Amino acid sequence: MDNTKWIVSIIHQDQTGEKKVMMNLLATVLLVAITSVANALTKSDFPAHFLFGASTSAYQVEGAANEDGRKPSIWDTYAYADNGGKSKGNGDIACDQYHKYKDDVKLMAKMGLDAYRFSISWSRLIPDGKGPINLKGLDYYNNLIDELVSKGIQPHVTLYHWDLPQTLEDEYEGWVSRRIIKDFTAYADVCFREFGDRVKHWTTVNEGNACSIVGYGSGVLQPQRCSSSSTFNCSKGNSSTEPYLVTHHMLLAHASAAKLYRTKYKAKQRGFIGFNLIVLGFLPLTNTIQDITATQRARDFNIGWFLNPFIFGEYPDVMKKNVGSRLPYFTSKESNLVKGSIDFLGINFYYAYYVKNNAKSLQKKDRDYTSDMAAELILYFGNGTSPYEIPVIPEILEGELHSLKNDYGNFPIYIHENGQQTFRNSSLDDWSRMECMHVYIGSLLDMLRNGFNIKGYFVWSFLDVFELLYGYEISFGLYYIDMKDPTLRRQPKLSSVWYSNFLNNRTMDSKITMKIEENSSVLSPNTPLMHATT
Ligand SMILES: *[C@@H]1O[C@H](CO)[C@@H](O)[C@H](O)[C@H]1NC(C)=O
Ligand SMILES: *[C@@H]1O[C@H](CO)[C@@H](O)[C@H](O)[C@H]1NC(C)=O
Ligand SMILES: *[C@@H]1O[C@H](CO)[C@@H](O)[C@H](O)[C@H]1NC(C)=O
Ligand SMILES: *[C@@H]1O[C@H](CO)[C@@H](O)[C@H](O)[C@H]1NC(C)=O
Ligand SMILES: *[C@@H]1O[C@H](CO)[C@@H](O)[C@H](O)[C@H]1NC(C)=O
Ligand SMILES: *[C@@H]1O[C@H](CO)[C@@H](O)[C@H](O)[C@H]1NC(C)=O
Repeated sequence: MDNTKWIVSIIHQDQTGEKKVMMNLLATVLLVAITSVANALTKSDFPAHFLFGASTSAYQVEGAANEDGRKPSIWDTYAYADNGGKSKGNGDIACDQYHKYKDDVKLMAKMGLDAYRFSISWSRLIPDGKGPINLKGLDYYNNLIDELVSKGIQPHVTLYHWDLPQTLEDEYEGWVSRRIIKDFTAYADVCFREFGDRVKHWTTVNEGNACSIVGYGSGVLQPQRCSSSSTFNCSKGNSSTEPYLVTHHMLLAHASAAKLYRTKYKAKQRGFIGFNLIVLGFLPLTNTIQDITATQRARDFNIGWFLNPFIFGEYPDVMKKNVGSRLPYFTSKESNLVKGSIDFLGINFYYAYYVKNNAKSLQKKDRDYTSDMAAELILYFGNGTSPYEIPVIPEILEGELHSLKNDYGNFPIYIHENGQQTFRNSSLDDWSRMECMHVYIGSLLDMLRNGFNIKGYFVWSFLDVFELLYGYEISFGLYYIDMKDPTLRRQPKLSSVWYSNFLNNRTMDSKITMKIEENSSVLSPNTPLMHATT
């Protein structure tokens, strides 16, 4: 995965002109879609136990970053770093969910969410990463969880979402060191003990693969470690070795926490423990055997890197071969610990790439993850989508699920994140987001009929949060928040109306459709925000 290239190409994209025309075309198409198809689909079409939810993560939504004893994480540090003068803001205030959680849970209940996926800020609960618990942090998560449970909303909790306590990074370089295993397990122990009576779905790590590749390979994101030969300017790191070490330690930390849960808590709490990966769609660039083989190799490097150990107890053969002695190995005891340690896999799905074989990269002197993979990834734009709109490609997701099932079996899967990005300042009539949800949710129904073991779908994101890549410029939320409004009022977008109708078994009524039609001509990222359609 070369997110760097993708990020840079999007940032430099000229965002005027073409987009407007595109949006108007889209509006016409969507109107047809909403009147003909959206009317047909509701939650009642899904099996009763299938969960629909929405996601956020601690640093992106909580705010109160310096309040009540919370200490900084590597994300705070990254947000404050001067990355070539490109400040993207920070999560000091974000959506202020720390103070507004009661109202947010009310909104979720009104919307009809079955589940809310959020993460715990490790450095809010245990400010130094290890040692004393911060009682105010403990209270906050207890209150949030109680509020959710009282409204019948299942809490689905992630323990690590890109936000290692800075103290641990400073003390021993965080995930690069084996010492993380013990501290992560102790942190998980506190969470299971304090919240496990009400929380039944635990995800240890969010996007473990992206954390390793982008945090320690390209060095673009926190903790911004990479070799000096990388295109990015990191002050420390080693792109040849660290991504593999970090993943190794994440696997062992997960397995250690899972073992603890199963031996100490599971009999009483009866919950499940999983891991989350970002899954990229991979398509061979050409039909040559080289590109087809490279496509499978890309899957092994992205997903097999984690799933092969989780299911079979060892790294994929092609990784052992290409990475050689830089790939850590599992002792037989560790291998048995990691094998079988997930009850489910969480998948975040957004983008697809064409894969082009690049065998020559194996001859490079300073090898890194990308050259070890021996493949070049070229972003797939789909048909008619612009570079800053995420292509809606459920057929590619289904293809990836098919490979997963073939390679690793039909274990339970949650779609933990999926959604559409728009400029944060664009219209509340977020047609593209509504269409994206509608198409993916519709295709889930087919996937379930085709026998995939999918348990739930969470849209990213519940609110317009502080985004990992673009801060407050681009957002994915069902609710808009104007950062200049001191009350940070949550303003429903069209997508929230659609989702709410869907969840409550209501079809979009014709009056709403008419109102949308009336305003469809103003769909443009540069027009002022309009008020709610509810
Ligand atoms: C939607 O329909 C399903 C199946 O008929 C039912 O179980 C569920 O309670 C309904 N939800 C609402 C909010 O009415
Ligand atoms: C990375 O670590 C390896 C193994 O310790 C070492 O051989 C290599 O020189 C290091 N690379 C850099 C750029 O520091
Ligand atoms: C990289 O960072 C160092 C330290 O901040 C700085 O001195 C140097 O000019 C930077 N190099 C580039 C190419 O940006
Ligand atoms: C996308 O475009 C390609 C090439 O023009 C075409 O072959 C394909 O059918 C299109 N797919 C869809 C879903 O429209
Ligand atoms: C459509 O736009 C008008 C004028 O901008 C506004 O008053 C109205 O509320 C909008 N309707 C919807 C459904 O957003
Ligand atoms: C919306 O945000 C984009 C990206 O930050 C910016 O280029 C554009 O000028 C903004 N438009 C308005 C109307 O504020």
